[in-house]
Amino acid sequence: LKPGRVFSGARPTGRQHLGNYLGAIKNYVALQDEYECVYSIVDLHALTTLESTQDLRQNSYEMALDWLAAGLDPQKCIIFIQSHVPEVTELHTILSMVTPLGKLTDLPTFKEKARMHPHNINYGLVGYPVLMTADIALYRANWVPVGVDQAPHIEFSRETIRSFNFHFNTNALVEPQMKVTNVPKVLGIDGQQKMSKSLNNHIELAATPEETQQRVLSMVTDPARIRRTDPGNPDVCNVFSMHKIFSGSEEVEMINVECRRAGIGCVDCKKRLAKNMNASLQPFRDRRADFDSKPDQVWDILHDGARRATVIAEETMHDVRAAVGL
Ligand code: ADP
Ligand code: NA
Repeated sequence: LKPGRVFSGARPTGRQHLGNYLGAIKNYVALQDEYECVYSIVDLHALTTLESTQDLRQNSYEMALDWLAAGLDPQKCIIFIQSHVPEVTELHTILSMVTPLGKLTDLPTFKEKARMHPHNINYGLVGYPVLMTADIALYRANWVPVGVDQAPHIEFSRETIRSFNFHFNTNALVEPQMKVTNVPKVLGIDGQQKMSKSLNNHIELAATPEETQQRVLSMVTDPARIRRTDPGNPDVCNVFSMHKIFSGSEEVEMINVECRRAGIGCVDCKKRLAKNMNASLQPFRDRRADFDSKPDQVWDILHDGARRATVIAEETMHDVRAAVGL
């Protein structure tokens, strides 16, 4: 018997990058062997900023390809698209009734998003965490994997679920626990900011070897190392950080030593990284191309996931409707 159910959702941002893989997907893959995992492509959440909704289906499909190629196995976990199980919107409405508005506007991520989209602070953006809570509650997740920065959201979900159960004198909903995982924060090719599609400082998992090499060659290294003859400091160099992920320990050690005494130049160092990165991503790319050659099979996996998710959702909503009096 598995030690409980894990739920996690990610907005369909299309092709995934190294940050998504190392910071999330890799952990999803590890969890599926131990837990009963439900992974959702949260397309309704992606609507909150109303950007590129025309690409939504394609972005969901591309993300599914990346998840499957990275090793998420539909035999071991449920992979589906959020909007394919519309019960989540009903639970969202019900949960909104036990949610004080001030709690939502106090959340740090809301404040940040409101700063980023000052002209489009719609109700959906404010209610984002309620929809997230509805997802977690609908699938009766015991565990939600989070990085430290998402802790306030899960705390909000726990409180909302507790509040629902208290108000309707029920235990229809399960209070989840945070599964804090020590995932790395991957920096972008600028070497400064978190790797992100919106900052265009990312390297896509599915990029061609040539594109990957070109992105790696444009990475910012130790800014104090200007001439080839200057010694560098690997401790502040994102190329070195990536070598630690993609290169063998002997090569990493060689670079660590040679960079500090200007024995190896940044261009050579980056070419080695690109080569190792490409070698390590090739099996993923082959699997991805294989899935992409059979899109019907990918959609079947997603639809089958939605069917299995619906079974759980219907059980929950049966109890929720009874508790509420609907
Ligand atoms: P969402 O808003 O749905 O979380 P993102 O594309 O921002 O969508 O991120 C998806 C997942 O990938 C999240 O778990 C996020 O923490 C992780 N992630 C994204 N970028 C990075 C990064 N540069 N380093 C580590 N993890 C990342
Ligand atoms: Na995010």
